[in-house]
Amino acid sequence: MASELQITICLDVLAPEELNTQERQAIELAQEAAADAYAPYSNFLVGAALLLENGSLFKGSNQENAAYPSGLCAERTALFGLSANHPNQTIKMLAVTARRRHKDTFLPAMPCGACRQVMAEYEYKQQAPIQVLLQAPDGKFYRFKSVADLLPFQFTKDHL
Ligand code: THU
Repeated sequence: MASELQITICLDVLAPEELNTQERQAIELAQEAAADAYAPYSNFLVGAALLLENGSLFKGSNQENAAYPSGLCAERTALFGLSANHPNQTIKMLAVTARRRHKDTFLPAMPCGACRQVMAEYEYKQQAPIQVLLQAPDGKFYRFKSVADLLPFQFTKDHL
């Protein structure tokens, strides 16, 4: 008989006042980064901020293109930008937020599948968990302990 495998994902749901100082700084930088998004087609502004083990922060925003698939999400802009400019830095946390142009309410920011795969790559590379802090519904935040919680059954170097 087939056996069933259940997967449980644990995450924290936090009110803004429950964020610690570093988390607040990362979310604030992601919110600032969203203002720099180049998103003339979707008008959906996404900001991402990486908190590094050394305490510094690095940001990215979505960059769109008239040839739509040539654009890139905020999360990958941040991750590739960091890796290209400061290779081999350990990432402690990735914070993501989003809003529509001309609106100041921040919206839930759920990383797309391709971004989750890229996040998984860097988590694998550094062999240490990357926490993920996402803007969630009702002004709350979702905090995941690891990218693995956002992407179970991931394809990594081990599968090649
Ligand atoms: N986008 C991101 O930047 N991150 C995501 O995880 C989802 C989507 C961007 C891509 C595109 O510029 C716009 O949001 C609409 O899809």
